[in-house]
Amino acid sequence: MKKIIVTGGAGFIGSNLLNLLVPKNPDRLFINLDMLTYAANLYSLKDIDGCRNYIFEKGDISDLETVKNLFRKYEPDSVIHLAAESHVDRSIVDPAAFIRTNIAGTFNLLEACKTNWKPGGGNLFHHVSTDEVYGSLGDTGLFSEETRYDPSSPYSASKAASDHLVKAYHRTYGIPVKITNCSNNYGPRQFPEKLVPLMILNALEGKSLPVYGKGANVRDWLFVEDHCEAIWLVFENGRVGETYNIGGSSERRNIEVVKSICKVLSEEIERPLAELEGLITYVTDRPGHDLRYAIDASKLKRELGWQPKETFETGLGKTVRWYLGNGEWIGKIKTGEYRNWIAKNYGERDSSAQ
Ligand code: NAD
Ligand code: DAU
Repeated sequence: MKKIIVTGGAGFIGSNLLNLLVPKNPDRLFINLDMLTYAANLYSLKDIDGCRNYIFEKGDISDLETVKNLFRKYEPDSVIHLAAESHVDRSIVDPAAFIRTNIAGTFNLLEACKTNWKPGGGNLFHHVSTDEVYGSLGDTGLFSEETRYDPSSPYSASKAASDHLVKAYHRTYGIPVKITNCSNNYGPRQFPEKLVPLMILNALEGKSLPVYGKGANVRDWLFVEDHCEAIWLVFENGRVGETYNIGGSSERRNIEVVKSICKVLSEEIERPLAELEGLITYVTDRPGHDLRYAIDASKLKRELGWQPKETFETGLGKTVRWYLGNGEWIGKIKTGEYRNWIAKNYGERDSSAQ
């Protein structure tokens, strides 16, 4: 049986990926390596817990011994690497964990691959990365796989560094690698420090909806299950040594996203739209805030036939309904640490900004 270590499998994308892959691939063993930071939630994995082809291992990828031991124990054929500190605002407040996990953690995994994998062994290190490594676009243009790296935040700089390490281990040591760089995900099981779930939960509680700056920044939104299917397609059929960009072709200004959430919510919970939109508050902007991300995913479409199944409208409807139907999940992530973050991040922002 082929064995795949999935790092960060208790986070947002990792848990959606495992929920998709474990039932569909009984001939593969999925080993979820996750240290369970504030962003993790084992409750997101309750449906696959107990499956014969799924194992959870608690461990920190920035600890080389942990990684070495796990490679000795399971002798994995492949790694799908998602574990990361992933929130830009946190990287601005406290970057150290981003350097540790995203750079040193990736380095440790690559070292373990170098030590344990033999040439021609059919192995693969798939690095799940972000479009933020490319920096910011102006009003026009798209990020392609050839776009020069130009990261803005400590988060994106740490992901850029990890991408470079992955490429270096391929060129220097011949480790078989693939990299996917994806745009903004939204969907079920996302920790509510990110824009979409934060706005949904705040609106439900009648709290303000804090929009940074003028709300004019543009992101290219992709439903998380579409991302997960793209990862698996590249993992299985992509070319070794290649990078594939993944995006939703769904560019929206942040203020449009927030207003769309208000609209879906007002229909779902029958609350007046004006009341929900009245919660929108413009607050101090994020330092170094990238203006616009937009992805050219034509390589993935051309080579592997991928395209997203959800539009932004269908995906957002599914997402809002998921949060409305999963109060127990929400209860479990509203830890003390979550409340501290909300108080710190939003307490320090000026809410009279426009
Ligand atoms: P997340 O923050 O929801 O989850 C990260 C997971 O990694 C958590 O379960 C956490 O416990 C685990 N983790 C953190 N540090 C660890 C460590 N030192 N050792 C082991 N586990 C550790 O993140 P996400 O949104 O699911 O993102 C997953 C990956 O996808 C990241 O690499 C991120 O850069 C990338 N990505 C995310 C998006 C997005 O929109 N969310 C888009 C493109 C790429
Ligand atoms: O582009 C891919 C990236 O998308 C991933 O690599 C990151 O891991 C992921 O967190 C996400 O980064 P963003 O910074 O784009 O996502 P976030 O949800 O934090 O913010 C989306 C936009 O909304 C951004 O322009 C900032 C803005 N924003 C965010 C929050 C949390 C607000 O206006 N108000 C908020 O309260």
